[in-house]
Amino acid sequence: MTLYGVGLGPGEADLVTVRGKRVLENADVVYSPGRLSRSVALEHVSEETIGDLDFPMTKDEAKLRTAWKAAAAEIAPNAREGDAAFVTLGDPNVYSTFGHLRRTLEAFHPDVDLEIVPGVSAVTAFATALGVEIEAGAGLSLREAANGAAPTGPDRMILFKVTDAPATHEGLVDAGYDVTYGRRLFMEQGETLVTADPSALADRDYYTLAYAEKRDLEIDSATAAFARDGGSVDGSSASDDHERT
Ligand SMILES: C[S@@+](CC[C@H](N)C(=O)[O-])C[C@H]1O[C@@H](n2cnc3c(N)ncnc32)[C@H](O)[C@@H]1O
Repeated sequence: MTLYGVGLGPGEADLVTVRGKRVLENADVVYSPGRLSRSVALEHVSEETIGDLDFPMTKDEAKLRTAWKAAAAEIAPNAREGDAAFVTLGDPNVYSTFGHLRRTLEAFHPDVDLEIVPGVSAVTAFATALGVEIEAGAGLSLREAANGAAPTGPDRMILFKVTDAPATHEGLVDAGYDVTYGRRLFMEQGETLVTADPSALADRDYYTLAYAEKRDLEIDSATAAFARDGGSVDGSSASDDHERT
């Protein structure tokens, strides 16, 4: 049958897609790579459906390869005999552990059928959570900013893995960016925080991202003129409008 890579979205149970929920409910076994994805999956399936996988907390590539080979060996027979699901937060194809599993299965168990159910990624959910509009025609780059890194270059960036917000902030501000941070956005687990103050994020939390935009960036869209000119583009001002209503 099939192994489904299911994107769970950012963390709130009702941000799982209708398709993702259906696949989870019909799966014989549901695997998760971590505590948070497991707790979201448990909002949709019972504890008995959850399969056990052991992932070491290491960056040692040899140990990681061994762990993924073991995970694939556990999952493959279940995905041949029935339907299995492997859940990840966000989307399975964006900065996700599912990529390791897919490559390992393709190398060692190529007969396993794979299907991916996309999820709401933090790459897009951040815009609503931070009240940012990425207007049509604008560019947006995804970068990683772990351990105080401050990548620069693009006009607009979304930065993942902001684990040292004060250090990242200093680098970005020096390079001419305005920065807003989002922690645990659309997540049931832990406190959601949106702030431009990096000292509010001094404690390390892996689920922290940043949106950086070059200062004084010109927004080029037909209706942007309304915001710049206070509504006077068609000859009337915002205060005139206010007086008329
Ligand atoms: C390994 S990436 C996983 C991305 C995920 N696959 C997705 O599509 O959203 C993890 C990073 O994404 C960001 N992230 C993911 N979910 C988040 C959330 N709900 N709130 C804030 N940041 C989040 C954080 O920067 C975190 O370090």
